[in-house]
Amino acid sequence: MSDRAPLPASPNAVLHTILNRASVRRWEDRDVPDDVLETIVRAGRQAPFTGQSYSVVVTRDKAKREELSRIFGRMCLAAPVFMLICCDFRKLEKFIAAKGRTNRMEDLGLLLFSTQDAAYFGENMVLAAESLGLGTVFLGSAPFVADRLVPMFNLPPRVFPLVGLLLGYRAESPAPRPRVPLKFVLHWDQYHDLSDGDVEETLSVMDAGLIREGYYQKLNAKIALTDGTDDKVTLDEYGWGEHVSRKYSQWRRVVSDNLAKQGIIVK
Ligand SMILES: Cc1cc2nc3c(=O)[nH]c(=O)nc-3n(C[C@H](O)[C@H](O)[C@H](O)COP(=O)(O)O)c2cc1C
Repeated sequence: MSDRAPLPASPNAVLHTILNRASVRRWEDRDVPDDVLETIVRAGRQAPFTGQSYSVVVTRDKAKREELSRIFGRMCLAAPVFMLICCDFRKLEKFIAAKGRTNRMEDLGLLLFSTQDAAYFGENMVLAAESLGLGTVFLGSAPFVADRLVPMFNLPPRVFPLVGLLLGYRAESPAPRPRVPLKFVLHWDQYHDLSDGDVEETLSVMDAGLIREGYYQKLNAKIALTDGTDDKVTLDEYGWGEHVSRKYSQWRRVVSDNLAKQGIIVK
């Protein structure tokens, strides 16, 4: 089945929401009522879990959002609500202690479980928000700026900021964005490694979709080269391949100090 072929089952509201979701970066200047936010968090909470080792701090506070805009960028002022999704070892360990026991799982294993708990919780919230007419975007640099988020949100030891989520009533409805073709994601029976041609095909699918939308251009998100070479790629040629390869090959920020400071790992 090709990526864009009609779905075999009759379309339903859940699939419609999932397949049409796109990150939103412009919102109406309209508050999101408490009951709507609570419904979204309840939907998040119904995600599958290993230990429910997550928490979310939600704020609409203007002063906090101004501070957040200095950390994550101006989008934090455009969205009426900011959520900080955290890995929460602390809460889980209290439940274990209440039974007179001590958590003995290695920190890295617990971090993998907790990251999954928090991620499924987060994505459930994204889809719930979307289904209620709101738009969301994740902010992924939270772990790298944990030292600024911890005091702002009073996070105790063993609670670690995993990802931010902006939400509000959407003022734009972007079309769904491209993905790695299904045939390179879905492996029947065994894993099939991508050939050079497969990689080329993938990058051209991804680049074409995002360049057509002017995605990085509109976001002003072109990553500068730091190796001193001339940047020969113009903005209208700059696609996902350029972006992702520049992002990861020039990555400088480290997160292990922040994880250690919050008592998540021992360095
Ligand atoms: C963990 C994570 C972190 C992200 N961080 C950011 C971010 O800091 N800024 C941003 O504009 N988008 C961020 N995004 C959104 C992605 O850029 C977006 O999901 C991706 O480009 C695909 O677009 P779509 O969500 O519209 O399909 C993040 C997404 C995830 C899952």
